[in-house]
Amino acid sequence: MPMLSMEDISISFYGAYANDHVNLHVEAGEIHALLGENGAGKTTLMNILFGIYKAESGRVLWNGSEVCFHSPQEAIRAGIGMVHQHFSLVNAMTVLDNVLLGYEMPLFVPRRKMRARLLELSARYGLKVDPDALVGELSIGEKQRVEILKALFRDIRLLILDEPTGVLTPQETAQLFSVLRHLKERGFAVIIITHRMSEIIAVTDRVTVLRDGRSVATLVTAETTSEELSRAMVGRALGAVQNTQSAQTGRDLLTLRNITVLRSGRKRPAVENVSLTVREGEILGIAGVEGNGQKELAEAVVGIRRGRVRGEILLGERSVSGTSVRTRERLGIAYVPDDRQHDALVPDMDVSENLMLRTYGKAPFSRFHVFRRAQIQKNAQEAVNAYAVRTAGTLGIKSPVRLLSGGNQQKIVLAREISPESRFIVASQPTRGLDLSASTFVREKLLEQKRLGKGVMLISADLEEILSISDRIAVMEGGRITGILPRSEASIDALGLLMGGMEHKQQEESK
Ligand SMILES: Nc1ncnc2c1ncn2[C@@H]1O[C@H](COP(=O)(O)OP(=O)(O)OP(=O)(O)O)[C@@H](O)[C@H]1O
Ligand SMILES: [Mg+2]
Repeated sequence: MPMLSMEDISISFYGAYANDHVNLHVEAGEIHALLGENGAGKTTLMNILFGIYKAESGRVLWNGSEVCFHSPQEAIRAGIGMVHQHFSLVNAMTVLDNVLLGYEMPLFVPRRKMRARLLELSARYGLKVDPDALVGELSIGEKQRVEILKALFRDIRLLILDEPTGVLTPQETAQLFSVLRHLKERGFAVIIITHRMSEIIAVTDRVTVLRDGRSVATLVTAETTSEELSRAMVGRALGAVQNTQSAQTGRDLLTLRNITVLRSGRKRPAVENVSLTVREGEILGIAGVEGNGQKELAEAVVGIRRGRVRGEILLGERSVSGTSVRTRERLGIAYVPDDRQHDALVPDMDVSENLMLRTYGKAPFSRFHVFRRAQIQKNAQEAVNAYAVRTAGTLGIKSPVRLLSGGNQQKIVLAREISPESRFIVASQPTRGLDLSASTFVREKLLEQKRLGKGVMLISADLEEILSISDRIAVMEGGRITGILPRSEASIDALGLLMGGMEHKQQEESK
């Protein structure tokens, strides 16, 4: 008897099925992947299990008996824990307080005991955390450990992780996987949602594939291949994108001279004395472990927090140092930020409105201060078609963006920023959260910008992505550029060494 059976589950929104008679069976002691394109219905299915949505048909069996949870609290009480696509921790509280938040505490248990229990769990599962640290000061990997401990603290038997690795460094991902294997050995079940085929192959026992809201296959990982999985997911095999174009490039388009970005209250700047050039028709990859100054460098280029930036920035021949975000936008600098939900979308506005946020009040969308509805809609429809955005049911381009699935929200920002008006694009983790075909499409789009003679700064934690489309690759470590290599000389190993700060240390020593 499986630990969990979801049978014949259906739910629809605005006239479209998000789950269409889905079946999922998960055993104790199993790591089970849920795979499917953006909008296939993965998060929705887990939300039904977790008591957030109510299914229109079907039934859920938990340890053999039929259940129906009306709230996450009920699901947790029954032994199911979920770590969501976006964290729900309180930054201003300590790790221990976050773990205890919402916990139905037995009466008269001293806090000291709770703390000991947290430390005991933390040791047992190799989830290292400091109970007294403020959550706001933790790295993303540490925050995720807190989320998992919070679930384990409640005596769960099934842990659901919705895209847990999207924001993790490769080292943190490896640590997470070893925790999952620990859990599995102790008879827990784990459901993991991820778009990364290599992770599915590495850590899961079985995979259930969703396509357009339907469960199309459940496969044993050891007996399948990533080709078979992608065929099940999209109905065809997908090839990888490769930059086969010449590295011949044009004039200097973006020049950074001695850029330093200061941090408030800290001695060491986030970015230290960075000088580089991106030419017309060139994709410059910025590789490095996240948190080494990449975000601050991107923000310096687009004009965010410009009071903290020292040094000079030129677009073409023109200095843009000290100018506003708006001015730089008007001059053609576009930005795809890594935190798209927070930094780039207005969740309550609809798809067509979000798509015109950048060009608001400009031709062709507005004329004599009157919005041209037909133009706006035509633009939105084209973008939705090009990026295969799955809107909510029959609402189409009128869907508020908050109703779109995680990956489909990302696509809206990309469609808006990679547009004819841009001359230079700063793209930070552009394919994070996107499924295989959307990632392929975005990489092709960036190559197309190169052909059109634009410049691209591609910041990515995914070395394979960097190697596949960049012309040159700069490595950032500790706020500095530790090396710049042409693609022909770059390899995962060479980049890895630079990311570890080897070059940097050698220089220090020889000084
Ligand atoms: N509350 C809601 N109202 C309207 N539509 C919704 C709602 N929740 C989900 N949907 C729709 O259901 C479909 C499936 O969404 P879901 O979030 O389950 O996709 P997903 O497989 O998790 O995708 P992703 O990989 O992008 O996270 C989407 O088309 C989405 O717009
Ligand atoms: Mg999702």
